[in-house]
Amino acid sequence: MTINQALIAATQKLQKNKISSPNMDAEILLLHILKKPREYLFTYPEKKLTKIQIINYKLQINRRIKGEPIAYITRHKEFYGLDFFVNKNVLVPRPETELMVEEVLEHVTHNTQHTTIIDIGTGSGCVIISLAKLLKFEIRNQPARGWSASGGKSKIRYLAADISSKALYVAKKNAKFHGVNKNIKFLCGNLLEPILNNLKHLNNPKNLTIITANLPYGWNSWKNNCSMDTIGLKFEPPIALFTENRGLKIIENFLKQIKQIINSQKINFNSNLLLLIEFDPRQTIMLKKLIKKILPNAKFQIKKDLRGYDRLARISI
Ligand SMILES: C[S@@+](CC[C@H](N)C(=O)[O-])C[C@H]1O[C@@H](n2cnc3c(N)ncnc32)[C@H](O)[C@@H]1O
Repeated sequence: MTINQALIAATQKLQKNKISSPNMDAEILLLHILKKPREYLFTYPEKKLTKIQIINYKLQINRRIKGEPIAYITRHKEFYGLDFFVNKNVLVPRPETELMVEEVLEHVTHNTQHTTIIDIGTGSGCVIISLAKLLKFEIRNQPARGWSASGGKSKIRYLAADISSKALYVAKKNAKFHGVNKNIKFLCGNLLEPILNNLKHLNNPKNLTIITANLPYGWNSWKNNCSMDTIGLKFEPPIALFTENRGLKIIENFLKQIKQIINSQKINFNSNLLLLIEFDPRQTIMLKKLIKKILPNAKFQIKKDLRGYDRLARISI
């Protein structure tokens, strides 16, 4: 069987099984088997595949037909232009989460304060690693933009936490791959609890603290109503996706932790705390109510994603 024949057969099979992007998926999986760049498919369409390659390709096409996300089959996902390793212990990074990275970049590049960036529910580490890598590059190349290299020492601290030690294993692997493992401290535990044991990172009131939180916000009726487009969710770790109270329970707990920290005066944020929380557009009204109830003095804005849907709560305290 040649490359061209394999592609045609796989595309037809995926199409017949209602996979939404059959051409692209057939190409990505074949390239994954061949370990070649995309041009190879069109330069050598008559090249014969080996028996092993054909068997592996058929196995992978069958996994895709059952709805498994392509990222779990290839073990890679691109996020913010960077390549991330993923496995079944982490959520596949979503394009809409890139908005969170954009917001942080926007905020820190216009700010000269020492900064701590904390990523809660880090999963594959895509958010904090993208930030650490991009800001490292920014500091090295554009010291004039307010981020002096200060003798080669970055003015930004990076902390990342997750309740799943298996997810943290993946995040650390990705940090190493991107050369930022020495810049990020990874901690295991419930929401901010592991960070509170590392208060030395936070309690300088002159520092800016930014917390990114893409926590689980899926809910039961959504889970049970999986269409062909969302069927891949059943392959992802439930701990990364679902929670009670119409998907807002964990975000509510997180906001309550912030309130407790402020009330206990353990940390003096001194108007220097920025929270970025991702959510589902159908939760906007409920989330606004929660923020007003738990953090009545906070200023907040809702940001839309590229498709025009409410996606990010930006809370300043
Ligand atoms: C929606 S995933 C997001 C992963 C990653 N930030 C991303 O954007 O791809 C949520 C992550 O939160 C973690 N998580 C769930 N409950 C948590 C909790 N109570 N405390 C800390 N992390 C939690 C999950 O293990 C999962 O990795």
